[in-house]
Amino acid sequence: MSVESNVATISVLLLLLASTANALTRVFDVRNYGAKPNIDITQAVTRAWKDACAYPGSSKVVVPAATYRVGTVIFLGPCKGPIEFNVLGSIHSPGDPKYFTGDTWISFAHIDHLTVSGTGDFDGQGGTAWGRSGCSKTSYCIHLPISLRFDYVTNSIVQDITSYNSKQFHINVLGCQNLTFNHVTITAPANSPNTDGIHIGRSTKINVINSKISTGDDCISLGDGSRDILIQGVNCGPGHGISIGSLGKYQNEQPVSGVRVISCNLMNTMNGVRIKTWPDSYPGSASDIHFENITVTNVDFPILIDQGYCPWNTCKPEIPSKIKISNVSFKNIRGTSRTKNVVVIVCSKSLPCQNVELRDIDLKYNGKDGPATSRCVNVNPIIGGTQNPPACTIRTLNKNDY
Ligand SMILES: *[C@@H]1O[C@H](CO)[C@@H](O)[C@H](O)[C@H]1NC(C)=O
Ligand SMILES: *[C@@H]1O[C@H](CO)[C@@H](O)[C@H](O)[C@H]1NC(C)=O
Ligand SMILES: *[C@@H]1O[C@H](CO)[C@@H](O)[C@H](O)[C@H]1NC(C)=O
Repeated sequence: MSVESNVATISVLLLLLASTANALTRVFDVRNYGAKPNIDITQAVTRAWKDACAYPGSSKVVVPAATYRVGTVIFLGPCKGPIEFNVLGSIHSPGDPKYFTGDTWISFAHIDHLTVSGTGDFDGQGGTAWGRSGCSKTSYCIHLPISLRFDYVTNSIVQDITSYNSKQFHINVLGCQNLTFNHVTITAPANSPNTDGIHIGRSTKINVINSKISTGDDCISLGDGSRDILIQGVNCGPGHGISIGSLGKYQNEQPVSGVRVISCNLMNTMNGVRIKTWPDSYPGSASDIHFENITVTNVDFPILIDQGYCPWNTCKPEIPSKIKISNVSFKNIRGTSRTKNVVVIVCSKSLPCQNVELRDIDLKYNGKDGPATSRCVNVNPIIGGTQNPPACTIRTLNKNDY
């Protein structure tokens, strides 16, 4: 047989395999469990999930194209086979926070091989909660529900869905491994409090790719124990940017290590790329963190390491942070700033940052109080390539840097 016909035979076999797998996927449509448009389908979707999860093969829960209401629901595994949650419609949360007893709207927990897919959306109806007393910009809205939680989910994909107007975070990732968010859209107003787009903590190999996040707080935030994280092709804004931390507030935090933020655009955000740690903190570390090919447009603080992060004066800023920051690079970061503080790297007095590299930085500021500045404290960065504005310290590379 020729190489071509071998390839053709293999292609046909693969197609056959793919269609067999499809044929074996059992569909659990919520309409078969009593779901009708515009009513509360919490029971229906819970029962559909239970049956799908117990099915010993590939299963798919389908929420068809219509608007449905859903209260708090936990989609719990482990399941007997790979499971897909396919949303074509619009799933609405109860508006008033009084309908929630905890801080979860929808949770996917303890599942291996989960796919969340579909062109539909999850609408947190946050508008009613944001104005609530005790949930101002100066305090944490701890009791408001997070829209979508992924707890201990492994080898899974979340794609194409949209999250609107969460009451608190849109998406929270905890204890997960090998979870990819692809082509996800997150939308909430710039002034909505604590509506982080995706918060990741204590998780390994998490990818956020090709996604668009417009919200009132961090587009993506990484908490302690985030390891092997890839953020690529993400458009962020409005929002507070892409942030590591804040770290050091709690005892026994796990290290943050292995973070790559690549080819992202930040527009009209408070921060661009930032690492923040509390002063007077517990010990911890953040290392192997790389930002490359980032465009900022009209951003307040494009490049920021802040080891004296102390909002609302809730700490002692004079006691240095005990978080060790090392092996961080900022490469090819370009665009425009809304303040002159385009590069701010303020490290801990007791644990200066080590091996921080600034390469090909081109950040413009046109305000009257200019020119743009690059400020470094307790850090001696490695400098390379274009530096506009001139880098805070000039130091030549030596072989001990590698
Ligand atoms: C990660 O998860 C994806 C999606 O389920 C899967 O295709 C891939 O094989 C997993 N990777 C590993 C190393 O298990
Ligand atoms: C950043 O962009 C440059 C120029 O387009 C490209 O060569 C490089 O591979 C990119 N870096 C990453 C990590 O994708
Ligand atoms: C930082 O990088 C150096 C050189 O690559 C390496 O030897 C060291 O282990 C790294 N430190 C951390 C904390 O990752």
